Amino acid sequence: MAKTIAVLNQKGGVGKTTTTINLGDVLAKQGNRVLVVDLDPQGNLSKVVSGGDIRFDNNVMDLFAKDNKSNIRDMLRTVEGYGNYFYIPTDIRLSRVIESGLTLSFREVRLTNHLKKLDSDFDFIILDCPPNLSLTTTNAIVAADLFLMPVNSGVFALDGLEDLLDALNEVSQNDYLNYYVFRNEVAVQNKVINSAINEDLELISKGRVLNSCIRRSEHIGQASFMSLPLSKYKKGSIAINDYKNLARELLTILK
Ligand SMILES: Nc1ncnc2c1ncn2[C@@H]1O[C@H](COP(=O)(O)OP(=O)(O)OP(=O)(O)O)[C@@H](O)[C@H]1O
Ligand SMILES: [Mg+2]
Repeated sequence: MAKTIAVLNQKGGVGKTTTTINLGDVLAKQGNRVLVVDLDPQGNLSKVVSGGDIRFDNNVMDLFAKDNKSNIRDMLRTVEGYGNYFYIPTDIRLSRVIESGLTLSFREVRLTNHLKKLDSDFDFIILDCPPNLSLTTTNAIVAADLFLMPVNSGVFALDGLEDLLDALNEVSQNDYLNYYVFRNEVAVQNKVINSAINEDLELISKGRVLNSCIRRSEHIGQASFMSLPLSKYKKGSIAINDYKNLARELLTILK
């Protein structure tokens, strides 16, 4: 049975997409069958895992379209170079579909119902959410077994986190919320900022902070810029170790 992880934070640019791609990459390299789903109309994940495309037939928007009979299997594509790393793309047209989907019946369980059909095909399904709490995010919340929330090191890094946790509680149908916060873009030498953020994060998340963090890395930024997963851009990058540690910690939690 697939474990589904939603990577979410309504704040923009905190590392949701980068985390989804590279966590998926690490898990796939370890032999897991991995699917990443782009739920953000910006289509950033799709561009990277497809090697630069920005428009796709059979994409996520069909899952949210009225009267659509599309089959989620037709949306699966492989990340080049892998036999076990798949993605479902999206593109900018998803934004209009979301608007019109607001009146759909059972609109929050659409993704869950479609993903059920792939349950035995994958070990991990990772959902890359947009920087808002729109329909695709609420679908991800209903579909996920675990919520993973990156926060970066900016001045406003933790703003909105309480709201996000409230939204999780409101939307999720589970009594127990399996959520974890982790730090992204950590500048290890910045001790003052790090200890201030760590302290606040512990409080706001009620102690649900992962031990692993992703350090700030030039390679990560450069890989995004070149629309490549990190391991394809720089095979031996030490930043990959951070994603390996993150994967290891998540595997322990999901066991
Ligand atoms: N650990 C890191 N070190 C250096 N740069 C990073 C790191 N993590 C993310 N970035 C860079 O920050 C930018 C934003 O990252 P990303 O696109 O993953 O964020 P996001 O939360 O998905 O954004 P959005 O909310 O727009 O979807 C990208 O250019 C990415 O390369
Ligand atoms: Mg993103």
